[in-house]
Amino acid sequence: MAQVELLGEVTKFVEGSPQMMIGGRRTGAASGKTFEAVDPSSGKAFAEVPRGEVADVDAAVAAAREAFEDRRWTGLRPGKRAEILFKLGELIKGHGAELAQIEALDSGKPVKIASGEMWAAGDVFRYYSGWPTKIYGETMPSDDSLFVYSLREPAGVCGGIIPWNFPLVMAAHKVAPALAFGNTMVLKPAEQTPLTALRLAELSLEAGVPEGVVNVVTGFGEEAGQALARHHDVDKIAFTGSTEVGRKILHESEGNLKRVSLELGGKSPNIVFSDADLRRAAKGSMLGVFMNSGQVCTAGTRILVESSIHDDFVSSLVDATGTMKLGPALSDETGMGPVVSSEQLQRVTGYIEIGKSEGAELVTGGNRAQELGDGYFVEPTVFTGVNNEMIIAQEEIFGPVAAVMEVADVDEAIAVANDSIYGLAAAVWTTDLSKAHRVARGINAGTVWVNTAGLYDPAVSYGGYKQSGFGRELGKHSMETYTQTKSVWVSLK
Ligand code: NAI
Ligand code: MG
Repeated sequence: MAQVELLGEVTKFVEGSPQMMIGGRRTGAASGKTFEAVDPSSGKAFAEVPRGEVADVDAAVAAAREAFEDRRWTGLRPGKRAEILFKLGELIKGHGAELAQIEALDSGKPVKIASGEMWAAGDVFRYYSGWPTKIYGETMPSDDSLFVYSLREPAGVCGGIIPWNFPLVMAAHKVAPALAFGNTMVLKPAEQTPLTALRLAELSLEAGVPEGVVNVVTGFGEEAGQALARHHDVDKIAFTGSTEVGRKILHESEGNLKRVSLELGGKSPNIVFSDADLRRAAKGSMLGVFMNSGQVCTAGTRILVESSIHDDFVSSLVDATGTMKLGPALSDETGMGPVVSSEQLQRVTGYIEIGKSEGAELVTGGNRAQELGDGYFVEPTVFTGVNNEMIIAQEEIFGPVAAVMEVADVDEAIAVANDSIYGLAAAVWTTDLSKAHRVARGINAGTVWVNTAGLYDPAVSYGGYKQSGFGRELGKHSMETYTQTKSVWVSLK
């Protein structure tokens, strides 16, 4: 396989002991401790990263607080903030090749796909650079002797806690809107993938974001993450990750009743009706579940197929799955990389064993790809004969495992689709327009795709129903997430 050669900037960055960013200064952990960054394609450590703990979070929050209170960012002319955010987006794109390689090394994502994501992360900043100039208040009707208006103000010091599946994109989803709406931030990237967030902090300074506005503390969830969620001087936490940890964040946040928004797990239905364009549906469903090695919160892991086309669909799905080329992240030919860590490898292969023991039929995949060495490679796996009560149909696996189920008609499809604690996303494949809209309305989820899957745009809001979380990110709805309103009463007497 054609191995991609590492850029000089990348080698320099990973070998130069990457540092946290606190108050505009690159720094190690106060304790001097570090942890290893591991390349999932080889299972080998390739860098040492500061292991931030309570003291480091305290310092970062203090820096973010000072930057917020002295209005060095919030108080800038909106047009200036817009200019800086746009520049940051352009810098991310300009450094796309370098960032993509770092992301590929750190997360196991194929470098070609990582390049697209780096562009998308830059695009989030470009989108949000349009917002500082569009934050309006309102005038409110009241007594004739009064003038009442509202100010839409930032939430304050925001904590962002993010997962490892789309490291820089997730960082952008937190930092860009927080900054656009005038907040300052402490970001805690996932311990599996801390590196691109550190480069983001450096690039933000280069773009002109004042020191202390974007702080990044690397470290573990139970240490740095918990300290941030518990911190009494943090006004808001925006979290993306597992439902289990989302629940913990709520408890950790209760001390000062900080605001919380949660983007959590999913077990999204992907419904294929008999009138669908079968080949397109098979390919789309395949990508919908195996993209990013299945490590996508909106992955269409429950594939509901109308009985009359079940067998044909499954054979098209298996054919499409065969086109997914499994391989190391730093190869140009790879379509699907490893899963992110040895824990995830255990977890995903554990679920495959559960599927077998529950009586589901394995039609393709089902194994760790041994031929690829010590990396955390799992074959794209399809189970058929699944019923919705099975564990593999109810729990988020977060790996390349699809569960195919038969449904008789539209009503059963909607009922099965909604029979889940989650409600993050759904996809529907049909050529019948009214059926498509009826199903879209019937499904309890924050996103529904029709004849496509996995699409995303910074202008389109995103978030969950049920235990997939609450609060909306992206688009104009993120304004509610990152601002608060103040009513001002003025007597005209
Ligand atoms: P996680 O939910 O534990 O990690 C997400 C982030 O939360 C990380 O930055 C982590 O350091 C932090 N964190 C962990 N415990 C914390 C705590 N007590 N307080 C504050 N922050 C904390 O996800 P993990 O353990 O990496 O993966 C386990 C499973 O979670 C996956 O198999 C998958 O099912 C699910 N998951 C779902 C994601 C999604 O976007 N829906 C993303 C990542 C994982
Ligand atoms: Mg965890």
